[in-house]
Amino acid sequence: LKMTSFTTNILTWYQSNQRDLPWRAEKDPYLVWISEIILQQTQVKQGLPYYLRFTKAFPDVYALARASEQEVLKLWQGLGYYSRARNLHAAARDVVERLKGQMPETKKDLLLLKGIGPYTAAAIASISFNEPVAVVDGNVYRLLSRYFASSLPIDSTEGRKHFDALAHQLLSKSRPADFNQAMMDMGAMICTPAQPKCNDCPVAAECQARLLSQQALFPVKSKT
Ligand code: ADE
Repeated sequence: LKMTSFTTNILTWYQSNQRDLPWRAEKDPYLVWISEIILQQTQVKQGLPYYLRFTKAFPDVYALARASEQEVLKLWQGLGYYSRARNLHAAARDVVERLKGQMPETKKDLLLLKGIGPYTAAAIASISFNEPVAVVDGNVYRLLSRYFASSLPIDSTEGRKHFDALAHQLLSKSRPADFNQAMMDMGAMICTPAQPKCNDCPVAAECQARLLSQQALFPVKSKT
């Protein structure tokens, strides 16, 4: 199967530059789930200590289901967006009671759990179960917008559709877990919102925004 140079370059970069994050070793769907919910509105640096405390207190879905809502919220103290914690707790009880403790294994089934949207469902399905689905967040929109110097606003319906389709085309179908996490690390470490580190970027040679010296003009947003 032929991959685009974009995909192979991203995967090769990831092999030597990936961040050492605790949920990456085991790929336990429960741990990936917790990490993705914490990291939705929180940066890795701020979220990591919460992740470590939370998974120490509740190491598996049964432990989380057994806990009281008050215990769960206490560990979430300071992270904000407390509905994330309440939904997580309710969904853990759902997994234990309805699914005998077995986490759903596909994006489609993961979407049925409370608090799991397209982003989180794709992250768990690809990272833990190697389902070939692209994880698309603000980092990925920004990277693709720059790489193609696309003027489609990333906050428009048309733009989102366009970039979702591109992300799916570029996704490594054989290594979706590595590819998706490589895109996250690229967005956090290289293709940052301000002063992207183009000298360290594995796809800079074909990046259209860089060729035009217009990195700062992308992504385009419709709302201000
Ligand atoms: N941000 C959100 N999810 C992430 C993950 N799995 N790895 C790194 N950064 C992330």
